[in-house]
Amino acid sequence: MSVATPLPHDAAQLHVTGAARYVDDIPTPAGTLHLAFGQSTIARGRIIAMDLAAVRAAPGVVAVLTADDLPFANDVSPSAHDEPLLPDGTVHHVGQAIFAVVATSHLAARKAARLGRLDYSEDTPILTIEAALAAGSRFEDGPRIYQKGDAAAAIAAADHVIKGTLEIGGQEHFYLEGQAALALPQEGGDMLVHSSTQHPTEIQHKVAEAIGVPMHGVRVETRRMGGGFGGKESQGNALAVACAVAARLTGRPCKMRYDRDDDMIITGKRHDFRIAYRAGFDGEGRISGVDFVQFTRGGWAQDLTLPVADRAMLHADNAYRLPNARIESHRLKTNTQSATAFRGFGGPQGVLGIERVMDHIAHDLGLDPVLVRQRNYYTGADGRSAPANRTGNMTTNTTPYGMVVKDFELLGMTEALLASCDYAARRAAVAQWNASHAVIKKGLAFSPVKFGISFTLTHLNQAGALVHVYQDGSVHLNHGGTEMGQGLFQKVAQVAASRFAIPLQSIKITATDTAKVPNTSATAASSGSDLNGMAVKAACDTIRARLAEFLAQRHQADAGAVRFVDGQVHVEDASYSFAEAVGLAYAGRVSLSATGFYKTPKVEWDRILGQGRPFFYFAQGCAVTEVAVDTLTGENRILRADILHDAGASLNPAIDIGQIEGGYVQGAGWLSTEELVWDEAGRLTTHAPSTYKIPACSDRPDVFNVTLWDCDNREETIYRSKAVGEPPFMLGISAFLALSDAVASCGDSYPALDAPATAEQVWTAIQRVRHGV
Ligand code: MTE
Ligand code: MOS
Repeated sequence: MSVATPLPHDAAQLHVTGAARYVDDIPTPAGTLHLAFGQSTIARGRIIAMDLAAVRAAPGVVAVLTADDLPFANDVSPSAHDEPLLPDGTVHHVGQAIFAVVATSHLAARKAARLGRLDYSEDTPILTIEAALAAGSRFEDGPRIYQKGDAAAAIAAADHVIKGTLEIGGQEHFYLEGQAALALPQEGGDMLVHSSTQHPTEIQHKVAEAIGVPMHGVRVETRRMGGGFGGKESQGNALAVACAVAARLTGRPCKMRYDRDDDMIITGKRHDFRIAYRAGFDGEGRISGVDFVQFTRGGWAQDLTLPVADRAMLHADNAYRLPNARIESHRLKTNTQSATAFRGFGGPQGVLGIERVMDHIAHDLGLDPVLVRQRNYYTGADGRSAPANRTGNMTTNTTPYGMVVKDFELLGMTEALLASCDYAARRAAVAQWNASHAVIKKGLAFSPVKFGISFTLTHLNQAGALVHVYQDGSVHLNHGGTEMGQGLFQKVAQVAASRFAIPLQSIKITATDTAKVPNTSATAASSGSDLNGMAVKAACDTIRARLAEFLAQRHQADAGAVRFVDGQVHVEDASYSFAEAVGLAYAGRVSLSATGFYKTPKVEWDRILGQGRPFFYFAQGCAVTEVAVDTLTGENRILRADILHDAGASLNPAIDIGQIEGGYVQGAGWLSTEELVWDEAGRLTTHAPSTYKIPACSDRPDVFNVTLWDCDNREETIYRSKAVGEPPFMLGISAFLALSDAVASCGDSYPALDAPATAEQVWTAIQRVRHGV
């Protein structure tokens, strides 16, 4: 079997029949206890008194834990030791876990958790960017700044200057399976934890600290998640640690799952941003200098805010060669949920900033927005420039952080997409429609993405695998990656099948297990198949080489002459089935088990200086979206989306296209209907699907054409494929820009639409444009 086969997800049938097993479906031993958190009702203050008598007396309650009951570390932070599982006196956001109820049923625990009587001394919460700036409430001493050239001088000298501010909302992950964990005490104080996590090693690490054992005393298993989207990189720590502590104290299995409202109120979301921009450009729209100031609300604990904010800075250029650029980033600490990883990890916010600038420039000069983009593109991998891209000051193809762009594919991709989606004719048709229709206006927009692939924390770019070949020729596959619906397991199994040239059915995909592959990184940064695919390849190749050597010796041939083809192993004139070859090797006392390891080459990065090569390569894509807007209500829908996306030599085109479709729709949802609202007391008022609107199936584009760009990765990745998990999310930006385009047709001034462009936002922007504000 070869890679590049468009097979369905390995668990597709289990998913659709409801047979796929998630943490909550694992049969639990008799006597299993259930946990729920008692939560803070205020956003900031001190706990003066805590009366938990009613909680303890409630039916089914076995134990109630507060910070005083935690035997060892009281910290679930993935980064800065600033996130106690249960607070030791101060509370930092509405919904924060304050005590944990351990009861005989899930419902009993939840009911009892509401009976706590807490007295607080309240402080004024820091909720907004303004409040955080005024109070100096930050995660780093001051802003971080990356720069190239002299942006201020370039802007001052430019013929044209625009400036503006863009508000960008956060986003709830809305994984279908909520956070969940199950801890099972083992003999000798060991702990087995099942966790819905993208990062089993981190769960192992935090649980070990919390129950006072070395990491070898904790085993974490994750078969699959019902979606993670970054929300299960760190946010599962609290549940797993609480369960493990309770299991240690009671000696009984402990389980916890958040119900949807609790999940939304407790866990972190995508970082919201404000981006202020200034850009200087010539009469043809070529940027000479740009200045961005990015502000983000990181919530109460540091979590992953620093690398998220770094990635937003690293994507402030997106696809554009900026001769002079300055990016300033403020990471603010607020009394809200601790904002966390979410598909794109800050990249989408950074990209939206420069895409707004492109759009604004085009509007200012009355040029086609695609042309302005093409004029600012990086030089292509083949040395080609976009039409009329030459200017004196654009000498090097480097990013604002000093990385040379050597694999820019978007020149050719853009031309191909514009042709295949009939952009020019549709642009004219939209203009004509808008000229002749007063109520329904249409909008059309293009946006590209160039997304850096690698963890910016360089040491995370490593992975391990463990492959066993059994006597009958069947294969047991383990690696450090986790499956969250993205199809990683299937892709990696295809790699293993292709290394041995055996059918996919011979490969057993297994749960991720910290006892099999240690010291793993989170499955994140879209790097799951890049890293684990390579580690699995290395393990398979070790076993393959042993088989080849053994068979070569047997036939007095050269090991190089042994070939694995179509389920057979050929040596000279002889040929064995894979199972026969394996059986012979077993009898010949050859080891049929191997580990594999991989580390990404070439990456090197100094995040303080903002210089280096943080990324191995760039994944790219582009999209054209057409929308219709009802100008009386602001309601809107996507009529058509065309996408051309670069997955390199795809490991599985069916899965990759699924990732692109899903990423685009999730990105469009972020920027249109998904709105998080906190009230003045810091309470999240949108904490259920009744008030928080993710795209439904009916919201996907009526016409949706997704094509893969046919081009090998220029770097040596697994079978020359490219990471695909996050990049297409940013193609949803074209939907936002199309809404802006429709609004712009209502008047002369620039719409300056904020995100999310809900119906109210769109309607308000239409009034602004109509009245020339
Ligand atoms: N696709 C599905 N179906 N479910 C998910 O939770 N997470 C996304 C993306 N695609 C996600 C998904 C995120 S945030 C990342 S980083 C990647 O998948 C992680 O998987 P990969 O590295 O194997 O692509
Ligand atoms: Mo994805 S945000 O890197 O888990």
